[in-house]
Amino acid sequence: MTAILPHGGTLINRIAEGQERDELLELVPTLKSISVNTWTISDLDLIGVGAFSPLTGFMNEDDYRSVVDHMRLANGAVWSIPITLAVEETVAAGIAQGERVALIGDEDGIAYALLNVESIYKVDQKDEAVKVYKTNDEAHPGVQKLLSRPSTYVGGSVIVLNRPQPKKFDEFYFNPSRTREIFAEKGWRTVVGFQTRNPVHRAHEYIQKSAMEIVDGLFLNPLVGETKSDDISADVRMRSYLVLLENYYPDDRVFLGVFPAAMRYAGPREAIFHAMVRKNYGCTHFIVGRDHAGVGDYYGTYEAQEIFSNFTADELGITPLFFEHSFFCTKCGNMASSKTCPHDSGDHLHLSGTKVRALLRDGQCPPAEFTRAEVAQVLIEGMNEQLASTNS
Ligand code: ADX
Repeated sequence: MTAILPHGGTLINRIAEGQERDELLELVPTLKSISVNTWTISDLDLIGVGAFSPLTGFMNEDDYRSVVDHMRLANGAVWSIPITLAVEETVAAGIAQGERVALIGDEDGIAYALLNVESIYKVDQKDEAVKVYKTNDEAHPGVQKLLSRPSTYVGGSVIVLNRPQPKKFDEFYFNPSRTREIFAEKGWRTVVGFQTRNPVHRAHEYIQKSAMEIVDGLFLNPLVGETKSDDISADVRMRSYLVLLENYYPDDRVFLGVFPAAMRYAGPREAIFHAMVRKNYGCTHFIVGRDHAGVGDYYGTYEAQEIFSNFTADELGITPLFFEHSFFCTKCGNMASSKTCPHDSGDHLHLSGTKVRALLRDGQCPPAEFTRAEVAQVLIEGMNEQLASTNS
Protein backbone atom coordinates (compact mmCIF):
# COMPACT_ATOMS: atom_id res chain seq x y z
CA MET A 1 0.00 0.00 0.00
CA THR A 2 1.43 3.42 -0.89
CA ALA A 3 0.86 5.94 1.86
CA ILE A 4 0.24 9.59 1.02
CA LEU A 5 3.51 11.47 0.56
CA PRO A 6 4.53 13.95 3.24
CA HIS A 7 4.53 17.62 2.24
CA GLY A 8 7.64 18.16 0.11
CA GLY A 9 8.05 14.41 -0.46
CA THR A 10 10.17 13.41 2.55
CA LEU A 11 9.24 13.05 6.20
CA ILE A 12 11.78 15.15 8.05
CA ASN A 13 13.48 13.70 11.13
CA ARG A 14 15.62 16.11 13.13
CA ILE A 15 15.71 14.21 16.42
CA ALA A 16 19.22 13.34 17.56
CA GLU A 17 19.63 9.87 19.05
CA GLY A 18 22.27 7.63 20.60
CA GLN A 19 25.91 8.59 20.23
CA GLU A 20 25.19 11.58 17.99
CA ARG A 21 22.92 12.98 20.73
CA ASP A 22 25.53 12.35 23.44
CA GLU A 23 28.17 14.15 21.42
CA LEU A 24 25.92 17.11 20.69
CA LEU A 25 24.87 17.36 24.34
CA GLU A 26 28.55 17.59 25.30
CA LEU A 27 28.88 20.60 23.00
CA VAL A 28 26.07 22.54 24.68
CA PRO A 29 28.14 24.13 27.50
CA THR A 30 30.63 25.42 24.91
CA LEU A 31 27.96 27.18 22.81
CA LYS A 32 26.12 30.48 23.13
CA SER A 33 22.50 29.98 24.02
CA ILE A 34 19.10 31.39 23.15
CA SER A 35 16.31 30.92 25.65
CA VAL A 36 13.06 29.53 24.26
CA ASN A 37 9.52 29.48 25.67
CA THR A 38 6.89 26.72 25.64
CA TRP A 39 5.44 27.85 22.31
CA THR A 40 8.85 27.73 20.59
CA ILE A 41 9.67 24.39 22.21
CA SER A 42 6.47 22.95 20.74
CA ASP A 43 7.37 24.32 17.28
CA LEU A 44 10.84 22.83 17.66
CA ASP A 45 9.49 19.44 18.54
CA LEU A 46 7.02 19.43 15.65
CA ILE A 47 9.86 20.34 13.28
CA GLY A 48 11.97 17.57 14.84
CA VAL A 49 9.42 14.80 14.32
CA GLY A 50 8.53 15.94 10.81
CA ALA A 51 5.02 17.22 11.52
CA PHE A 52 6.14 20.47 9.85
CA SER A 53 7.86 18.75 6.90
CA PRO A 54 9.47 20.04 4.72
CA LEU A 55 10.73 22.51 7.36
CA THR A 56 14.03 21.48 8.90
CA GLY A 57 14.26 24.47 11.22
CA PHE A 58 13.05 27.99 11.87
CA MET A 59 12.46 29.97 8.71
CA ASN A 60 15.25 31.89 7.08
CA GLU A 61 14.50 35.33 5.73
CA ASP A 62 13.73 34.21 2.17
CA ASP A 63 11.24 31.55 3.30
CA TYR A 64 9.71 33.94 5.85
CA ARG A 65 9.13 36.72 3.30
CA SER A 66 7.79 34.31 0.73
CA VAL A 67 5.39 32.72 3.25
CA VAL A 68 4.11 36.06 4.51
CA ASP A 69 3.66 37.54 1.01
CA HIS A 70 2.73 34.50 -1.08
CA MET A 71 1.79 31.62 1.23
CA ARG A 72 4.66 29.62 -0.24
CA LEU A 73 8.15 28.69 0.83
CA ALA A 74 10.91 30.18 -1.30
CA ASN A 75 10.98 26.93 -3.33
CA GLY A 76 7.29 27.36 -4.16
CA ALA A 77 5.84 24.71 -1.81
CA VAL A 78 2.57 25.71 -0.16
CA TRP A 79 3.08 27.05 3.37
CA SER A 80 0.86 29.62 5.02
CA ILE A 81 2.10 30.30 8.56
CA PRO A 82 5.57 31.63 9.48
CA ILE A 83 7.41 29.28 11.84
CA THR A 84 10.01 31.57 13.32
CA LEU A 85 12.34 32.10 16.24
CA ALA A 86 12.14 35.61 17.68
CA VAL A 87 15.07 36.82 19.78
CA GLU A 88 15.91 40.02 21.62
CA GLU A 89 18.07 42.34 19.55
CA THR A 90 20.86 42.20 22.14
CA VAL A 91 20.91 38.40 21.89
CA ALA A 92 20.91 38.54 18.09
CA ALA A 93 23.81 41.00 18.17
CA GLY A 94 25.89 38.41 20.04
CA ILE A 95 25.55 35.64 17.47
CA ALA A 96 26.74 35.33 13.92
CA GLN A 97 25.62 33.61 10.76
CA GLY A 98 27.27 30.20 10.49
CA GLU A 99 27.43 29.78 14.25
CA ARG A 100 25.82 26.91 16.15
CA VAL A 101 23.79 27.89 19.23
CA ALA A 102 21.93 25.97 21.91
CA LEU A 103 18.20 26.50 22.45
CA ILE A 104 17.53 26.34 26.17
CA GLY A 105 14.10 26.16 27.85
CA ASP A 106 13.46 29.42 29.72
CA GLU A 107 11.64 27.67 32.59
CA ASP A 108 13.59 24.45 33.02
CA GLY A 109 17.08 25.15 31.63
CA ILE A 110 16.86 22.03 29.43
CA ALA A 111 18.86 22.05 26.19
CA TYR A 112 16.10 21.32 23.70
CA ALA A 113 18.03 21.72 20.48
CA LEU A 114 20.95 23.09 18.54
CA LEU A 115 20.36 25.66 15.83
CA ASN A 116 22.65 26.36 12.88
CA VAL A 117 22.29 30.10 12.44
CA GLU A 118 21.71 30.71 8.75
CA SER A 119 19.89 34.02 8.78
CA ILE A 120 19.32 36.92 11.19
CA TYR A 121 16.73 39.45 10.10
CA LYS A 122 14.44 42.25 11.26
CA VAL A 123 10.76 42.07 10.45
CA ASP A 124 7.78 44.38 10.38
CA GLN A 125 5.41 42.53 12.69
CA LYS A 126 2.42 44.76 11.92
CA ASP A 127 2.82 43.85 8.26
CA GLU A 128 3.13 40.16 9.21
CA ALA A 129 -0.03 40.48 11.32
CA VAL A 130 -2.06 42.07 8.53
CA LYS A 131 -0.93 39.51 5.96
CA VAL A 132 -1.14 36.38 8.13
CA TYR A 133 -4.00 37.29 10.50
CA LYS A 134 -5.75 39.85 8.26
CA THR A 135 -5.68 42.33 11.14
CA ASN A 136 -3.23 44.09 13.40
CA ASP A 137 -5.82 44.48 16.14
CA GLU A 138 -4.11 43.61 19.41
CA ALA A 139 -7.37 42.14 20.73
CA HIS A 140 -6.79 39.22 18.32
CA PRO A 141 -5.06 36.50 20.42
CA GLY A 142 -2.67 35.48 17.63
CA VAL A 143 -1.74 39.09 16.84
CA GLN A 144 -1.27 39.82 20.53
CA LYS A 145 1.19 36.92 20.77
CA LEU A 146 3.00 38.02 17.62
CA LEU A 147 3.37 41.64 18.70
CA SER A 148 4.58 40.64 22.15
CA ARG A 149 7.64 38.95 20.61
CA PRO A 150 10.86 40.72 19.64
CA SER A 151 11.01 41.73 15.97
CA THR A 152 14.40 40.15 15.20
CA TYR A 153 14.19 36.60 13.91
CA VAL A 154 16.88 33.95 13.66
CA GLY A 155 16.50 31.24 11.05
CA GLY A 156 18.29 27.98 10.47
CA SER A 157 18.06 24.21 10.68
CA VAL A 158 17.74 22.54 14.06
CA ILE A 159 18.58 19.25 15.66
CA VAL A 160 16.46 18.28 18.67
CA LEU A 161 18.29 16.96 21.74
CA ASN A 162 15.46 16.73 24.27
CA ARG A 163 11.73 16.53 23.77
CA PRO A 164 9.08 18.20 25.93
CA GLN A 165 7.41 15.65 28.20
CA PRO A 166 3.60 15.55 28.17
CA LYS A 167 2.07 16.26 31.58
CA LYS A 168 -0.88 13.99 30.88
CA PHE A 169 -2.30 11.66 28.23
CA ASP A 170 1.16 10.73 26.99
CA GLU A 171 -0.32 7.58 25.45
CA PHE A 172 -1.96 9.82 22.84
CA TYR A 173 1.26 11.41 21.56
CA PHE A 174 2.40 9.91 18.26
CA ASN A 175 5.04 11.03 15.81
CA PRO A 176 3.95 11.30 12.17
CA SER A 177 6.11 8.28 11.30
CA ARG A 178 4.13 6.27 13.86
CA THR A 179 0.65 7.46 12.81
CA ARG A 180 1.56 6.54 9.25
CA GLU A 181 2.48 3.03 10.40
CA ILE A 182 -0.71 2.75 12.46
CA PHE A 183 -2.96 3.79 9.57
CA ALA A 184 -1.19 1.22 7.37
CA GLU A 185 -1.55 -1.50 10.04
CA LYS A 186 -5.26 -0.75 10.19
CA GLY A 187 -5.44 -1.11 6.43
CA TRP A 188 -6.80 2.42 6.02
CA ARG A 189 -6.10 3.75 2.55
CA THR A 190 -8.01 6.95 3.13
CA VAL A 191 -7.91 8.82 6.42
CA VAL A 192 -9.67 12.06 7.29
CA GLY A 193 -8.00 14.36 9.79
CA PHE A 194 -10.03 16.44 12.22
CA GLN A 195 -8.55 19.47 13.93
CA THR A 196 -10.27 20.77 17.05
CA ARG A 197 -9.61 22.97 20.03
CA ASN A 198 -13.06 22.56 21.54
CA PRO A 199 -15.07 19.82 23.23
CA VAL A 200 -16.88 17.71 20.66
CA HIS A 201 -20.45 18.89 20.19
CA ARG A 202 -23.06 17.29 17.97
CA ALA A 203 -22.09 19.47 15.00
CA HIS A 204 -18.50 18.18 15.19
CA GLU A 205 -19.76 14.62 15.48
CA TYR A 206 -22.08 15.13 12.52
CA ILE A 207 -19.38 16.40 10.17
CA GLN A 208 -16.87 13.78 11.35
CA LYS A 209 -19.35 10.98 10.77
CA SER A 210 -20.44 12.40 7.41
CA ALA A 211 -16.78 12.30 6.37
CA MET A 212 -16.36 8.79 7.82
CA GLU A 213 -19.02 7.60 5.36
CA ILE A 214 -16.60 8.18 2.50
CA VAL A 215 -13.17 7.34 3.96
CA ASP A 216 -11.69 4.34 5.78
CA GLY A 217 -10.84 6.04 9.05
CA LEU A 218 -10.98 9.20 11.16
CA PHE A 219 -7.88 10.65 12.77
CA LEU A 220 -9.27 12.71 15.64
CA ASN A 221 -6.37 15.07 16.21
CA PRO A 222 -7.19 17.66 18.88
CA LEU A 223 -4.75 20.51 19.31
CA VAL A 224 -3.34 20.43 22.85
CA GLY A 225 -0.65 23.12 22.69
CA GLU A 226 -1.08 26.68 23.90
CA THR A 227 -4.59 28.11 23.47
CA LYS A 228 -6.16 31.34 24.68
CA SER A 229 -7.06 31.36 28.35
CA ASP A 230 -10.83 31.09 27.90
CA ASP A 231 -10.69 27.98 25.69
CA ILE A 232 -11.54 24.77 27.56
CA SER A 233 -8.39 23.06 28.87
CA ALA A 234 -6.84 20.25 26.85
CA ASP A 235 -7.24 17.92 29.81
CA VAL A 236 -11.03 18.34 29.99
CA ARG A 237 -11.31 18.18 26.21
CA MET A 238 -9.38 14.92 26.08
CA ARG A 239 -11.76 13.44 28.63
CA SER A 240 -14.70 14.59 26.53
CA TYR A 241 -13.28 12.96 23.37
CA LEU A 242 -12.63 9.70 25.20
CA VAL A 243 -16.13 9.43 26.58
CA LEU A 244 -17.62 10.27 23.20
CA LEU A 245 -15.50 7.71 21.34
CA GLU A 246 -16.27 5.04 23.89
CA ASN A 247 -20.02 5.48 23.52
CA TYR A 248 -20.68 6.61 19.98
CA TYR A 249 -17.87 5.67 17.56
CA PRO A 250 -16.82 2.32 16.12
CA ASP A 251 -13.48 1.44 17.66
CA ASP A 252 -11.90 0.22 14.45
CA ARG A 253 -12.69 3.35 12.44
CA VAL A 254 -11.29 6.07 14.68
CA PHE A 255 -7.83 6.85 15.93
CA LEU A 256 -7.23 9.49 18.60
CA GLY A 257 -3.85 11.22 18.78
CA VAL A 258 -3.03 14.73 19.91
CA PHE A 259 -1.54 17.62 17.94
CA PRO A 260 0.83 19.33 20.40
CA ALA A 261 0.96 22.66 18.54
CA ALA A 262 0.07 26.15 19.67
CA MET A 263 -3.16 27.61 18.31
CA ARG A 264 -2.61 30.67 16.15
CA TYR A 265 -6.28 31.63 15.52
CA ALA A 266 -5.23 32.64 12.00
CA GLY A 267 -8.47 31.34 10.44
CA PRO A 268 -8.00 30.76 6.67
CA ARG A 269 -4.20 30.62 6.70
CA GLU A 270 -4.23 28.29 9.67
CA ALA A 271 -6.64 25.97 7.83
CA ILE A 272 -4.04 25.51 5.08
CA PHE A 273 -1.31 24.96 7.68
CA HIS A 274 -3.49 22.47 9.57
CA ALA A 275 -4.12 20.54 6.36
CA MET A 276 -0.42 20.37 5.40
CA VAL A 277 0.52 19.11 8.85
CA ARG A 278 -2.20 16.45 8.82
CA LYS A 279 -0.87 15.29 5.45
CA ASN A 280 2.44 14.72 7.23
CA TYR A 281 0.67 12.60 9.84
CA GLY A 282 -0.63 10.46 6.95
CA CYS A 283 -4.12 11.86 6.33
CA THR A 284 -5.49 11.87 2.80
CA HIS A 285 -8.43 14.15 3.64
CA PHE A 286 -8.96 17.03 6.04
CA ILE A 287 -12.17 18.52 7.42
CA VAL A 288 -12.71 22.26 7.18
CA GLY A 289 -16.06 23.40 8.56
CA ARG A 290 -17.35 26.83 9.32
CA ASP A 291 -14.95 29.47 10.63
CA HIS A 292 -12.10 26.98 10.97
CA ALA A 293 -9.45 28.22 13.46
CA GLY A 294 -11.33 31.49 13.68
CA VAL A 295 -11.83 33.81 16.61
CA GLY A 296 -14.25 36.72 17.07
CA ASP A 297 -15.46 38.23 13.79
CA TYR A 298 -12.11 38.50 12.05
CA TYR A 299 -12.89 35.98 9.30
CA GLY A 300 -15.87 35.22 7.09
CA THR A 301 -17.74 31.99 7.88
CA TYR A 302 -16.33 30.16 4.84
CA GLU A 303 -13.09 32.04 4.23
CA ALA A 304 -11.06 29.11 5.58
CA GLN A 305 -12.59 27.00 2.81
CA GLU A 306 -12.28 29.59 0.03
CA ILE A 307 -8.54 30.03 0.61
CA PHE A 308 -7.91 26.49 -0.69
CA SER A 309 -8.83 27.67 -4.21
CA ASN A 310 -5.48 29.52 -4.36
CA PHE A 311 -3.74 26.17 -4.80
CA THR A 312 -4.02 23.21 -7.14
CA ALA A 313 -4.99 19.77 -5.85
CA ASP A 314 -1.46 18.57 -6.69
CA GLU A 315 0.18 21.36 -4.70
CA LEU A 316 -1.98 20.62 -1.67
CA GLY A 317 -1.63 16.85 -1.91
CA ILE A 318 -4.44 16.37 0.64
CA THR A 319 -8.14 16.68 -0.12
CA PRO A 320 -10.03 19.22 1.96
CA LEU A 321 -13.59 18.22 2.83
CA PHE A 322 -15.72 21.32 3.29
CA PHE A 323 -18.74 21.37 5.56
CA GLU A 324 -21.47 23.96 5.89
CA HIS A 325 -22.47 25.30 9.25
CA SER A 326 -24.41 22.41 10.80
CA PHE A 327 -27.03 22.36 13.52
CA PHE A 328 -29.90 20.30 14.90
CA CYS A 329 -33.19 21.05 13.12
CA THR A 330 -36.25 20.44 15.30
CA LYS A 331 -38.50 20.00 12.24
CA CYS A 332 -36.16 17.55 10.45
CA GLY A 333 -35.51 15.87 13.80
CA ASN A 334 -31.82 15.48 12.96
CA MET A 335 -28.52 17.22 12.38
CA ALA A 336 -28.49 19.16 9.14
CA SER A 337 -27.09 22.13 7.28
CA SER A 338 -28.53 24.63 4.82
CA LYS A 339 -27.60 22.09 2.13
CA THR A 340 -29.98 19.50 3.53
CA CYS A 341 -32.62 21.35 5.57
CA PRO A 342 -35.48 23.42 4.12
CA HIS A 343 -36.66 24.94 7.41
CA ASP A 344 -36.24 28.41 8.89
CA SER A 345 -33.49 29.26 11.31
CA GLY A 346 -36.20 29.50 14.00
CA ASP A 347 -36.47 25.73 13.77
CA HIS A 348 -32.75 25.27 14.30
CA LEU A 349 -31.20 24.82 17.70
CA HIS A 350 -28.75 27.64 18.34
CA LEU A 351 -26.80 27.96 21.56
CA SER A 352 -24.03 30.48 22.00
CA GLY A 353 -20.79 29.45 23.68
CA THR A 354 -21.65 31.87 26.51
CA LYS A 355 -25.05 30.23 27.03
CA VAL A 356 -23.53 26.73 27.02
CA ARG A 357 -20.89 27.77 29.57
CA ALA A 358 -23.59 29.33 31.79
CA LEU A 359 -25.62 26.08 31.72
CA LEU A 360 -22.57 23.97 32.52
CA ARG A 361 -21.55 26.28 35.34
CA ASP A 362 -25.00 25.77 36.88
CA GLY A 363 -24.46 22.02 36.62
CA GLN A 364 -27.09 21.75 33.87
CA CYS A 365 -26.62 19.70 30.70
CA PRO A 366 -27.23 21.53 27.43
CA PRO A 367 -29.90 19.75 25.31
CA ALA A 368 -28.82 16.31 24.05
CA GLU A 369 -29.36 17.63 20.50
CA PHE A 370 -26.46 19.99 21.18
CA THR A 371 -24.09 17.99 23.40
CA ARG A 372 -24.14 14.30 24.27
CA ALA A 373 -25.04 13.84 27.95
CA GLU A 374 -21.77 11.98 28.64
CA VAL A 375 -19.76 14.86 27.18
CA ALA A 376 -21.80 17.45 29.12
CA GLN A 377 -21.06 15.53 32.32
CA VAL A 378 -17.31 15.70 31.67
CA LEU A 379 -17.57 19.43 30.95
CA ILE A 380 -19.54 20.08 34.15
CA GLU A 381 -16.89 18.18 36.15
CA GLY A 382 -14.20 20.21 34.37
CA MET A 383 -15.94 23.49 35.26
CA ASN A 384 -16.22 22.43 38.90
CA GLU A 385 -12.54 21.46 39.07
CA GLN A 386 -11.59 24.80 37.57
CA LEU A 387 -13.79 26.69 40.06
CA ALA A 388 -12.37 24.68 42.96
CA SER A 389 -8.78 25.40 41.88
CA THR A 390 -9.40 29.15 41.43
CA ASN A 391 -11.11 29.34 44.84
CA SER A 392 -8.40 27.41 46.66
S1 ADX B 1 -10.96 25.12 15.50
O1 ADX B 1 -10.45 26.43 15.92
O2 ADX B 1 -10.09 24.05 15.92
O3 ADX B 1 -11.28 25.11 14.08
P1 ADX B 1 -13.36 23.88 16.57
O4 ADX B 1 -12.78 22.88 17.48
O5 ADX B 1 -14.61 24.54 17.06
O6 ADX B 1 -12.33 25.04 16.32
O7 ADX B 1 -13.69 23.28 15.17
C1 ADX B 1 -13.18 22.08 14.67
C2 ADX B 1 -13.64 21.89 13.23
O8 ADX B 1 -15.07 21.76 13.19
C3 ADX B 1 -13.32 23.04 12.28
O9 ADX B 1 -13.06 22.53 10.99
C4 ADX B 1 -14.59 23.86 12.27
O10 ADX B 1 -14.71 24.58 11.06
C5 ADX B 1 -15.65 22.76 12.35
N1 ADX B 1 -16.92 23.19 12.98
C6 ADX B 1 -17.11 23.55 14.27
N2 ADX B 1 -18.43 23.79 14.52
C7 ADX B 1 -19.09 23.60 13.34
C8 ADX B 1 -20.46 23.67 12.94
N3 ADX B 1 -21.45 24.01 13.76
N4 ADX B 1 -20.76 23.40 11.65
C9 ADX B 1 -19.79 23.05 10.76
N5 ADX B 1 -18.48 22.95 11.09
C10 ADX B 1 -18.13 23.21 12.35
